[in-house]
Amino acid sequence: MRTQVGIVGAGPAGLTLARLLEVAGIESVVLENRSRDHVEQRIRAGVLEQGTVDLLTEAGVADRLHREGLVHHGIELQFDGERHRVPLSDLTGGSTIVIYGQTEVVKDLIQARLASGAPLYFEAEDVSVHELESERPSIRFRHDGGKHELECDVIAGCDGFHGICRETIPAGVLTAFSRDYPYGWLGILAAVAPSNEELVYAHHERGFALLSLRSLEFSRLYVQVDHDEDIREWPDDRIWEELHARLGLEGWNLAEGPVLEKGVTGMRSYVVEPMQYGRLYLAGDAAHIVPPTGAKGLNLAIHDVRTLAEALVEWYGSGSRAALDAYTATCLRRVWRAEHFSWWMTSMLHRDPGDDSFGLRLQLSQLRYVTSSPAAATSLAENYVGLGTL
Ligand code: APR
Ligand code: PHB
Repeated sequence: MRTQVGIVGAGPAGLTLARLLEVAGIESVVLENRSRDHVEQRIRAGVLEQGTVDLLTEAGVADRLHREGLVHHGIELQFDGERHRVPLSDLTGGSTIVIYGQTEVVKDLIQARLASGAPLYFEAEDVSVHELESERPSIRFRHDGGKHELECDVIAGCDGFHGICRETIPAGVLTAFSRDYPYGWLGILAAVAPSNEELVYAHHERGFALLSLRSLEFSRLYVQVDHDEDIREWPDDRIWEELHARLGLEGWNLAEGPVLEKGVTGMRSYVVEPMQYGRLYLAGDAAHIVPPTGAKGLNLAIHDVRTLAEALVEWYGSGSRAALDAYTATCLRRVWRAEHFSWWMTSMLHRDPGDDSFGLRLQLSQLRYVTSSPAAATSLAENYVGLGTL
């Protein structure tokens, strides 16, 4: 088998890259080790930046997003028993965010790929990448009982944080930068209309909480827990009790509903440099992770593959490798901005078990500052909606 671009992983990064290449007339094959059902059921974050929406629209995969996505113009920060609105659109010349689950983005991309007839293999086993330094890198895998070798011009490693592509790069090439946090998020999806129109990020002595949504019928809610929290310790009643305590306000009621799904996610910041080796290019979670507080993970992944697709179009079109060679540098500018923003939002809003009362007062001062100074609020807002060029 032979293709132009071999793509490992059918998450948002791999599927979006495949779509962008298809639109540009470049062939690709996508190899995913999980089943289609599994990939389409995974619940992930749900905030799309304007730039992400624009890209999916241009790629022709945003019809349902425009029908069902909810456009938001602000978020709320809660601390000291008060809620403060950050008017994102007013502060950023009209930019908005769209609430639409990553799961839904993935379903739309898979549907478009299958409809086009272009190759996308689920349940590909023992995927491995070879000859990365040569002009004919290849991907070996097993599918439907048969062994296959796919020869490529380049390989895109879009296989997430636990994938094999990053691991295949020889020792000594990559440098990793990381930060672990002593807490995680317990998230639920509840069949109840969201109790607030906009997202509420709450700082509370008992720990952070977030009120989010997936639609006008479904709420998505999170509470800060230990990083290795056992979900069995959290019956639904306990989760609601904690949500009421942390999000509660005089005169406002948090509506409860059946819990459809719940899970704990650890939080970490992680970046590898460079994001390329020979003819392998890493994109999305394969190269970097952010804690979810800034809602940047999906948006960063989409930016990486946009950069990669543009560089590949230039290379196939003109033979120039300039943009491909600059892939790491171009991506890392945005990656590090998002790393900083996500770390900053996380540190401002969570209770660190090792922190003292000095730290608590610094957090509260920072929160008061970003909700009272237009300069500080604008800085938060432009990062949240996504910076244009960097
Ligand atoms: N072979 C083939 N596919 C693999 C392999 C492998 N060895 N290992 C992992 N995969 C697949 C995973 O099953 C997954 O479907 O690669 C895909 C990676 O997708 P994501 O983890 O969703 O990563 P990415 O596409 O970079 O999207 C980043 O997803 O994790 C969230 O918060 C993150 O929002 C961000 C976004
Ligand atoms: C979500 O709705 O899942 C969500 C929203 C905002 C975040 C993180 C997650 O910052």
